[in-house]
Amino acid sequence: MKVLGIETSCDETAAAVVEDGPKIVTNIIHSQVKTHAKFGGVVPEIASREHIHKIVEVVEKAVEPVGGMDGIDGVAVTTGPGLVGCLLVGTQVAKGIAMARQVPLMGINHLEGHISAALLAEKVPDYPHVALVVSGGHTHLYHVKSFGSYTLMGGTRDDAAGEAFDKVAKVLGLGYPGGVHVDRLAQDGDPKAIALPRGMNTTKHFDFSFSGLKTAGVTYIREHGGELKGQQLNDFCASLQEAIADILTKKAVAAAKSVGVKGIVLAGGVAANSRVRALTEERCSRRGMWSFLPPRVLCTDNAAMIAAAGWTRLQNGESTPWTTEVRSRWPLGELEAPAA
Ligand code: KG4
Ligand code: ZN
Repeated sequence: MKVLGIETSCDETAAAVVEDGPKIVTNIIHSQVKTHAKFGGVVPEIASREHIHKIVEVVEKAVEPVGGMDGIDGVAVTTGPGLVGCLLVGTQVAKGIAMARQVPLMGINHLEGHISAALLAEKVPDYPHVALVVSGGHTHLYHVKSFGSYTLMGGTRDDAAGEAFDKVAKVLGLGYPGGVHVDRLAQDGDPKAIALPRGMNTTKHFDFSFSGLKTAGVTYIREHGGELKGQQLNDFCASLQEAIADILTKKAVAAAKSVGVKGIVLAGGVAANSRVRALTEERCSRRGMWSFLPPRVLCTDNAAMIAAAGWTRLQNGESTPWTTEVRSRWPLGELEAPAA
């Protein structure tokens, strides 16, 4: 069984094919980073237009090695959450292909997609576990009891972790998206050089707050003449990255402990961050827990993760009706009832 996955929720135009496993056959990503870099962030109207220009070429490249559309047994597509004009492009293309080929359509939640990157591993992580989904728009902790069963344990009350990286990097003039640049510069910096605040630094609940850190970072830059250079820049990036990695991993480990699960799955663009990865491994192994870190290319937006979620749903006999619509907001899982 081969499933075509399509992802256009933000600024990557992506298509992929997975076969039984699920295993990746193709994984094509057209990044719009260059287009949006000059604006310092994603411009929704421009993003949807570029999806329209690129989607056919990207899908054709993805299906070419499997004999074109004839080789496809199902089509999975991100139908939310994300930018509506962007989601519509992928969804309409997916509906068209599925209708013409008479194969099932699977509308996939982007966050379930990120978590499903783990399904593409040689050894798939055991259930139950805790998943930390950290991206440009989301910072959420889920208790995942089995595929498709997600209980929200906590999330950010203001900015996402990726937003903190990106907004501070923008003030530093590092370019978009900022997380990658901060990660690179942090390699030669001292993470203890600058004391930056850790918001909601408690393990009594699993919510996050990154707006205080963002403001403190921006204030530090302004107090130092609006520009950081050389070692000072490296130290600042390392300190910012350390604060984000510390709070994310501390809460993820505490959340796993609180529900008695043995491991943590990382997902989303910020899961590509080297310090977040290292600290997750370190803190998990210190407590006898396992951690699963997807390869970096499957952390940031891609369609293989969407196809993996779709393949699994198809395997379970599920499909989505043609009438399905895109959703800008689409929470995954419900808030866990507070302990009595
Ligand atoms: O999952 P993703 O590609 O798109 C969303 O669904 O949002 O995540 C993008 C986010 C951006 O905020 C970007 O700065 C961040 O992931 N990111 C990183 C790294 N690579 C990507 N943040 C820190 N370190 C990285 N190496
Ligand atoms: Zn994403």
